[in-house]
Amino acid sequence: MRVLITGGAGFIGSAVVRQHIAETGATVINIDALTYAGNPESLGDARENPRHVFEHVDIADRAALERVFREHRPDAVMHLAAESHVDRSIEGPAAFVETNVTGTHNLLEAARGYWSKLGGAAKERFRFHHVSTDEVYGDLGPDDPAFTEDTPYAPSSPYSASKAASDHLVRAWHRTYGLPVMITNCSNNYGPYQFPEKLIPLMVLNALDGRPLPVYGRGDNVRDWLYVEDHARALRHVLAHGAVGRTYNIGGRCERTNLEVVHALCAVLDELAPNEQGPYARLIEFVTDRPGHDRRYAIDDTRIANELGWQPTESFETGLRKTVQWYLDNPEWVERVRSGAYRQWIDANYANRGRAA
Ligand code: NAD
Ligand code: DAU
Repeated sequence: MRVLITGGAGFIGSAVVRQHIAETGATVINIDALTYAGNPESLGDARENPRHVFEHVDIADRAALERVFREHRPDAVMHLAAESHVDRSIEGPAAFVETNVTGTHNLLEAARGYWSKLGGAAKERFRFHHVSTDEVYGDLGPDDPAFTEDTPYAPSSPYSASKAASDHLVRAWHRTYGLPVMITNCSNNYGPYQFPEKLIPLMVLNALDGRPLPVYGRGDNVRDWLYVEDHARALRHVLAHGAVGRTYNIGGRCERTNLEVVHALCAVLDELAPNEQGPYARLIEFVTDRPGHDRRYAIDDTRIANELGWQPTESFETGLRKTVQWYLDNPEWVERVRSGAYRQWIDANYANRGRAA
């Protein structure tokens, strides 16, 4: 099995690559442009494994993608490369359209060109797995039923609109050209190697630095949380057993308000790295809300549970503890990703966010 993974130096992509190398005999062709969010160090031992081939390629570059397909002849594609941070998409949407929409189009065309020339069993076997988000469905009120695969698309942010567009392209390539695709839409991931612009690692590292913990609005927005290794396992399971043309929602069965999440991680830190000045929760500050902030996400995972027999294994409590411990144990990784560009982003995103009224 030769799996071409895009975005394999990112948070979720690197977990998928590490699992493939450690737990299967597959060869992985890892395409990544190494943007600010990509870091080959996140690959761990998989990086040097002879079954891991790294291609420093931007999915904006169609000719480079065609070369990669020609040279490496993959049996499957798992497409994770994306601009992924909602706040950045609000500050600068163009990169999101470029990578998430145009980049996905380039990849679909390169894959179609390659797949259409395959014959027999190789053509039968080929799969294009598009990794997407629950944010394409918009948001929910407190008592609304969770998102199913039939929930209409209603994206709110430039990020989720660009992911929704990419999902539509993937479905169209299946319906029009017969490309054997599968789509997964997952909720919020957390775990080791997550770039510290996202809620959980940002809060852990701010707390350890004694900096404010900036909770948007009143902290009552709800997210569903899934440990990244569980997501990676779900993606591999869908690739192996999912039906062509089908969409699967993936979630953690774990809805929490943002404030609950921040209090939970503060409590873990109080235990693992107690601070002499008092509990970390003293650092919580309520700041100006994110524009267009989605209120609640929740996943109905009936389809993936019933049809494919997948369910999450990590509880939020155990996953959060592992995550906090990982950030405590890996200061070198943290220091290297918190480069000058990272500081600029943090200053830009939080400088003008006054305290919430
Ligand atoms: P990430 O931002 O950590 O990593 C993205 C990776 O893509 C990086 O390695 C980056 O270098 C690479 N990349 C970006 N632009 C590229 C380009 N033009 N060409 C090639 N590579 C490029 O993202 P993540 O959190 O690991 O998310 C991975 C995928 O999963 C995304 O498609 C995202 O929409 C989806 N997703 C994420 C979550 C989550 O909670 N993080 C949840 C559901 C779905
Ligand atoms: O639902 C899946 C999505 O989850 C993925 O598609 C995205 O790629 C991923 O980034 C994530 O999006 P969110 O916007 O939900 O994640 P983020 O970590 O940015 O924020 C989580 C919640 O925490 C959200 O309600 C905003 C809030 N927040 C975030 C930051 C960075 C704060 O209150 N303060 C902060 O400083």
